[in-house]
Formats: sequence, C-alpha cells, structure tokens
Amino acid sequence: MSAVIKMTGLRKEFDDLVAVQGLDLSIPAGEIYGLIGPNGAGKTTSIRMACGLLEPTGGQVSVMDADVYQDPERAQQFIGYLSDFFSVYEDLKVWEYLDFFAHAYKMPEGEIPARIGEVIRQVELEVKRDAMIRGLSRGMKQRLGIARAIIHKPRVLLLDEPASGLDPKARMDLRNLLRSLRDEGTTILISSHILTELEGFCTSIGLMEKGQMIRSGTIADISAAETPLRAVRLAWVGPDEAQVRSKLEGNPHVSGIAVQGQQALFKFGGSDEELTGVLAGMVAGGIKVLSFGEVKQTVEDLYLKLSHNEVM
Ligand SMILES: Nc1ncnc2c1ncn2[C@@H]1O[C@H](COP(=O)(O)OP(=O)(O)OP(=O)(O)O)[C@@H](O)[C@H]1O
Ligand SMILES: [Mg+2]
Repeated sequence: MSAVIKMTGLRKEFDDLVAVQGLDLSIPAGEIYGLIGPNGAGKTTSIRMACGLLEPTGGQVSVMDADVYQDPERAQQFIGYLSDFFSVYEDLKVWEYLDFFAHAYKMPEGEIPARIGEVIRQVELEVKRDAMIRGLSRGMKQRLGIARAIIHKPRVLLLDEPASGLDPKARMDLRNLLRSLRDEGTTILISSHILTELEGFCTSIGLMEKGQMIRSGTIADISAAETPLRAVRLAWVGPDEAQVRSKLEGNPHVSGIAVQGQQALFKFGGSDEELTGVLAGMVAGGIKVLSFGEVKQTVEDLYLKLSHNEVM
C-alpha cells in the first residue's frame, strides 16, 4: 500500500459550481496532513467526499486501499470523522453517546465499556462522564466529537476544523492527543484556519484555493521551492556595524543585506558549510556574535505568499 488516503482526480460539482476540481493527493501512513485554504476553497467538500458522505462527481478516493464508494463498509471501519459543524444528541449522557456510536461501529460488546473509559480519559471529559450533553460547554462538545471519531480506533482520522471553539489549553491538548494517535499509527488529515496550529505539528500541508491544490508537501519543501535563498539573521553586541557589513558584502553568497541596530538580515545562497564559514569569519574578526541562524518561514508567511485571495 503506497498511500493510506488516496484521492485521484477527485471532483465535485454543485450545479454549475465546481467546488473541487480534480484533486490528486496521496497521504502516506503516519502523516498529519494539514489542509489550508480560504473560505470556499473546497476543504470541507474534499473531506466529506473522503469520508463517504458526499459522492464525488468524478474521480476516486480510497482509504487503506478500500474505495470509499465501491467498498463503503470496509472503508468506513478505517475512518474516523469529525465534521466542521457537528451536532450531538443533547438528551444523552456523555457515556451513552459514545456507547451508541461504539455499537453503531459494531464493536465487540465486551470491549465497549473499557474503550469508552479510555477515550473519555483521552479527551479529558472524566468529570462529565455521566453529565447530560446539553449541559456541556462548546469546547467540551468538541472534545466529545473527537472522542466519538476515535471510539472505534480508526486507522485514519479526517478532522474538519477540529480546533474551532477550543480554548488555548484545549488546543494544546488536542495537538498532544493527535500526536499520540499518530504515534500509535493513525494517519490524520486535518483542515484548519488557525495556521499557527499547524506549525510544527503537521508533517505536510496542502494549500487549496478555488477547488484546486496549489501546493502540497512538507513545510520545508514548499518553503525551499518558494525561496531558494534562505534568510539568515545575525545579531551582535558592540559598535561593529561597518565591519559586519563589509564582511557580509565581501561574501559572494550573500545578498539583500538589511542592517538595523545591532542586527543584520541577509539572504544566503551557499551551502550549510559555507554558512558556518560566515559565522566563523565574524567571530575570528572579533565581532561579538550574540545569535546567528536561519529565519524559518512560518506556514502563515507561506500561505500569504502563495494565496491569491484575501485571507480567510
Ligand atoms: N451542498 C452544497 N451545495 C452547493 N454549493 C456547495 C455545497 N457545499 C459546498 N458548496 C460550495 O462549494 C465551495 C467549497 O465549499 P467548502 O465548504 O468545501 O469550502 P471550505 O474550503 O471548507 O471553506 P471554509 O473555510 O469556509 O470551511 C463553496 O463555493 C461552497 O459554496
Ligand atoms: Mg470548511
């Protein structure tokens, strides 16, 4: 099996609107893949097609090699899904709700109580185990939705804006939970508007716009393709601006030097080895280097650079 989630030429039309225009995407095992894009880009439509809720107009989607529409029963056992606006049955207790879904997934009867206890612990709803759902806060309902999505230990999780409505602590908990699920072998596709949420957390990202994937890959790869020259920042102590400037200007790999106060920002086109040479040269010249390092692009920087629409 090459990809755990595989979309080939996936397309969705709503009357004369093409919401998703031939999406090709292969997500290998163990990835946390973040789907980014402005409102209306087609993220929800893509995720709903992948989880079996919205039949594509064209193309295929499979999960663990099971075609979601040709072999739905097999595919469904692999999929856990959290929709962007999900409703829960208000008149059930937390544990009853999970019990209902455990049965719906045809889990072995004997395993259900322990599994309910386990997921309630994972999403930290222990104190609400016997509470009525209608009395839960929005964030708690969101956690319950996540518990429901993982109750049957799915191999693949499809999460549409799972962090919306969560407070910062709950977001961090969600990230930790998703990381631990990934460590257990779950492959995760997650859409988010909160770009900083995806930073340092997703293994790959895809930028969607107007129903098309405009970039897909690891953040490092997309960054490197967009900016072949890396940005480096140097900070020093003391009155050595002229010397710093002349050293930088004398290096053939350096361009775009901007100096402000006791900091310089420049672009570097050489190798790692050559970059260490720049630092060594500064120190050897008696410059008191305070910090020296590459400035990483954030997902937000990339998004703003690549996106043609106004942002979200
Ligand atoms: N059931 C539907 N009927 C008609 N048009 C639809 C339907 N569902 C989605 N669309 C349209 O398809 C396009 C993509 O919508 P989608 O919900 O997939 O976007 P999204 O990327 O999830 O946006 P958001 O960030 O706002 O959640 C939009 O133009 C939307 O209006
Ligand atoms: Mg959406």
